[in-house]
Amino acid sequence: MLKNIKNVIDKINRKPLEPRKAYDIWSETYDTENDNLVFKLEEEILDSLFKKADLSRKLVLDYGCGTGRNWERLLSFHPEKITGCDISPKMLGRLKVKYPAIDIYVIKKNSSLPLKPNSFDFILSTLVVAQINNLKEVFCEWNRLLKPGGKILITDLHPTVLSAGGKRTFEKDDRTYEVKNYIHPIEEIKKICGNLNIEVTGLEERLISETSIDFYKRKNALHIYKRFSGMPLVYGMLIEKKDETNKY
Ligand SMILES: C[S@@+](CC[C@H](N)C(=O)[O-])C[C@H]1O[C@@H](n2cnc3c(N)ncnc32)[C@H](O)[C@@H]1O
Repeated sequence: MLKNIKNVIDKINRKPLEPRKAYDIWSETYDTENDNLVFKLEEEILDSLFKKADLSRKLVLDYGCGTGRNWERLLSFHPEKITGCDISPKMLGRLKVKYPAIDIYVIKKNSSLPLKPNSFDFILSTLVVAQINNLKEVFCEWNRLLKPGGKILITDLHPTVLSAGGKRTFEKDDRTYEVKNYIHPIEEIKKICGNLNIEVTGLEERLISETSIDFYKRKNALHIYKRFSGMPLVYGMLIEKKDETNKY
C-alpha cells in the first residue's frame, strides 16, 4: 500500500530530467539497452551516411559520445584518432573503461572545448541534438573545431515525433525516467548551417512503419505505435564545411 502511494506521488513529481543528471543515472545500464527501435533505425541511417564520409586516417570528434556506442564502427574505418566529449562524467567513465588511452573532455558550462580551431576532420554527434538548448552556439563551436573540407554527421529523434509528444525515456529500477528535450525542426538546423556557410549534403529519415509493429508488440506498446505510426522517428544529417582554399 505504502509502495503504491509512493509510486503515485513519484509519478506526479516526476519531471523530465536535465540531460547531465539523466545520463549519469542511465550510464549504469545504457550499454545493456537492447531491442531498441531508435538504435536499429539509426543504424540504417549511419550505414548510409558513413558511406559518404571517408574516415580513414582522419581526426574524429564524437560530441556527446556517451559510452562510445559507435566507437567499434568508427574504429573499423581506421581513423587517426577519436576524441570524445560529453556533459555526463559517468557516461564518459564507462567509455574510459572500454578505451583507457583516449582523450576525453567533460563539457561544463557552455559548449566550448579547450581545443584549437581546425582540430578535426569529422564531427559525429549521435542522439544528442535535441538535448541541446542553444543549438546555434554548439554549431558555431563545431564549425570552429572543424577543418575546411571537414564533415559533421548528426542523428537524433525526429523533431516531428517530439512535437507530437514523443519522449526520450529509459527504464531503471522499475522506474521510467524522461530526459528533457528541446525541439529543433529540420528547417531550423538547415538555417543554422546556412548562416555558418556549411552545407547540408545528406538527409535521411526513418518512419515508424508496419515493419516496426513487432517491436511495439514485444514492448506491450501498441497504443504508442497507433499514436505515432507513419511519423518519422529518427533522422540523420550530413553537413560539409566547404574548403574555400580549393575554390580556384
Ligand atoms: C542518447 S545519448 C547518446 C550517446 C552516444 N552518442 C550514442 O549514440 O550512444 C546522449 C548523450 O548526449 C550527452 N549530452 C546531452 N546533452 C549534451 C550537451 N549539451 N552537450 C554534450 N553532450 C550532451 C549525454 O550526456 C549522453 O551521453
